[in-house]
Parts: sequence; C-alpha cells; structure tokens
Amino acid sequence: ARGLRVALLGCGVVGTEVARMLLEQGADLAARVGAPLELAGIAVRDADRPRDPVIPRDLLTEDVETLVDGADIVIEVMGGIETARALLLRAIESGAAVVTANKALLAADGPTLYKAADSAGVDIYYEAAVAGAIPIVRPVRESLAGDYVRRVLGIVNGTTNYVLDQMATSGLGLQEAVEQAQELGFAEADPTADVEGYDAAAKAAILASLAFHTRVSADDVAREGITGVTADDVAWAARTGHAVKLLAIAEQTGEGVSVRVHPALVPLEHPLAGVKGAFNAIFVEADAAGPLMFYGQGAGGRPTASAVLGDVVSAARHRVLGGKGPQESTYAARPLLPADAAVTRYQ
Ligand code: NDP
Ligand code: HSE
Repeated sequence: ARGLRVALLGCGVVGTEVARMLLEQGADLAARVGAPLELAGIAVRDADRPRDPVIPRDLLTEDVETLVDGADIVIEVMGGIETARALLLRAIESGAAVVTANKALLAADGPTLYKAADSAGVDIYYEAAVAGAIPIVRPVRESLAGDYVRRVLGIVNGTTNYVLDQMATSGLGLQEAVEQAQELGFAEADPTADVEGYDAAAKAAILASLAFHTRVSADDVAREGITGVTADDVAWAARTGHAVKLLAIAEQTGEGVSVRVHPALVPLEHPLAGVKGAFNAIFVEADAAGPLMFYGQGAGGRPTASAVLGDVVSAARHRVLGGKGPQESTYAARPLLPADAAVTRYQ
C-alpha cells in the first residue's frame, strides 16, 4: 500500500518521543497499519537549535504550512491556542486526519475543530490530551457510550501531583518542586497552567463533555490551583492522616452537570492518596458498569507519546481501510451549571 505522510508539529518534550517511536518502530507500525508511515517533516520554531540525536536535521522545518499541506496525518504537539487552531483547521480542510495532545485548545474551542472534522469527513483524535499515557478518552467516549456516567473524579495533572508529593516527602517549597517538574518534562510551557489548575480544568472539561454528552469548556469549570497550599498545610494534612491532592470532579447533580478543580484532603487509606509523582488516577462511575479506575503516568514525553502513537495507528488504519473514526454525541443530555454554582463536595 501507498505510504502515509505524517507531519509532526512540535519537537519538544512530547514531539521528540513521538519522532523517536515513528523512526525506530517503523517496520512494526507499518505491519500494524497495513501501510508504511513516512515521517514527512517536523515543524519547529528554530530548526537550528541543538536537539536529541534521534532527530534528523533534514526533517526539521520552520515552514509549517507547507508541511501540513502535503500530509495524510497531522500530529500537533506544539501547544498554544491560536497558531495550533489555525494549523489544525488547515490540516482538516486539506483532508488530513488530526492527532493532538493540546488540551488547552480543545477545552477552549474544541467544537470548532470537531465540526470542521465532521464536515470534511476526517478523524480527530486526542487521547494524549488527558492524563498522558492513560487510556481514558477512548473508554469514556466509546466503551461507556451506552451507559450513563454519573461521575468522573481524580488526579489529572502530573505536575501538581509531583509538586505536592515533593512538598510532603522532601519538604521542598512550591517553586523548587515546580522547577524539578519542568526539568522532568511534566510541566506546561508556562507552568502557571499547572499550578493554577488551568490544565486540570481543561482536562476536566474534555472528560465532562464526553461523559455527559454535552459541551463543557474550560470557562465552565470552577477552578482553584495549588498556589495557596503551603508546606505547613501539607505537613498538617499528613499528621491528621491525609494527603493534599488537586482533584478534578465532574458529576451530574440533581440540577445539572457540575465540574470543578480544587485541592482536597484525601484520607491516606483512599487509593488516590497513594498516587505519587507525576502519576494520575481517574475514577469513573457509571450506572451499569459501576465503578472503574484508571491509573498510570499522567505526564512526560514517552508516556504521552504512547497515547499519541495509539491515535496515529487508529487514524492510519482508517485511511488504509476506509471508514470514519470515533463519533461523539453532544445533545446536551443535562443542563450545564455555571462554574460559580459548583458544589464543593468530595465523596
Ligand atoms: P514543548 O514546549 O517541550 O515543545 C513544543 C514544541 O513545539 C517545540 O519543539 C517548539 O519548537 C514547537 N513549536 C511551538 N510553537 C511553534 C510554532 N508556532 N511553530 C512551529 N513549532 C512550534 O512542549 P511539550 O512537548 O511539553 O507539549 C506539547 C503539547 O503537548 C502541549 O499542548 C502540551 O499541553 C501537551 N502535552 C504535554 C505533556 C507533557 O508531559 N509534556 C503531556 C500531555 C500533553 P522549538 O523546539 O523550536 O522551540
Ligand atoms: N503539564 C501536564 C501535567 C502534562 O503535568 O499533567 C500532561 O498533560
């Protein structure tokens, strides 16, 4: 079969690992897809910056539009909103399938992209946008599509979990721990998105949209980050048998859908208290399925690249075999409560 041209937008923490997998696992990926995946190019801001030796210099380009125009599949791991949205719309309009890890964009304006993809008859995949390596988008969007999800609750930001963990175990201050999380590749380009809860709110909005068949944007989420949490708070929590965790909670109340992100005291015997470092854990409660738990690495280049590559294989298989990828329903099954109406409640 004809090879599929893959355009990679971004060669940072995640993009480097995506490129590594595409370049080093080419034969296996081709066998799984039924056609070779050709990495056509990698768009960056500065093509001459020193990079990991796995990245061939001749694949790097600063001409992102030309790269997008010739692609069958466009992988966006650049981040940011405006440029990423314009490039993804361009890709969709030119008939490419799109894979993105950009939760900030999806939570701000996902419906514009979903609508464009629908009109163009192409796929848009975003497993990596929520909780790194953990398969959670597919299960909520597809496996539970016949059930009634009541609640989604958990730890969806690796950086803040790492920071709170370091504060509890190493006595580090917030700033120092954030710097470590940046070095480890867990943090957003601007770590304010992590520590102020914007990143968790974006993920909560995406999950709530899928779980409740409605549209929740980041602005609909009641949000409090961890900048108000002190080392004394964390130490006091430990003395009283608790861990401080940044929780994302999306649930159907009697009045409607409520989505919020805030620090909470979690009893040490609760499984969420045992989630360490940049790991994430998400509980989903559905009427027929009952409780489900998802756990794994929520941030970092290689875990996130795993989720990206899973989406790339799905998109490529559709290209080869024909057919359309996963569909979403958004019939506003329940009213959405305004962010300031969110009830702060745990368990
Ligand atoms: P980085 O900042 O490490 O990398 C961003 C890359 O995009 C860089 O290679 C940069 O180029 C390139 N880039 C940025 N803007 C442009 C532009 N306008 N034109 C061309 N290239 C551009 O980010 P991450 O890899 O950490 O994250 C990427 C995306 O993945 C974000 O949306 C993030 O939210 C998401 N994500 C990140 C996770 C993580 O653990 N890090 C986990 C899950 C999702 P250059 O190298 O030249 O600067
Ligand atoms: N900055 C994000 C986090 C990356 O720490 O969870 C994964 O989405």
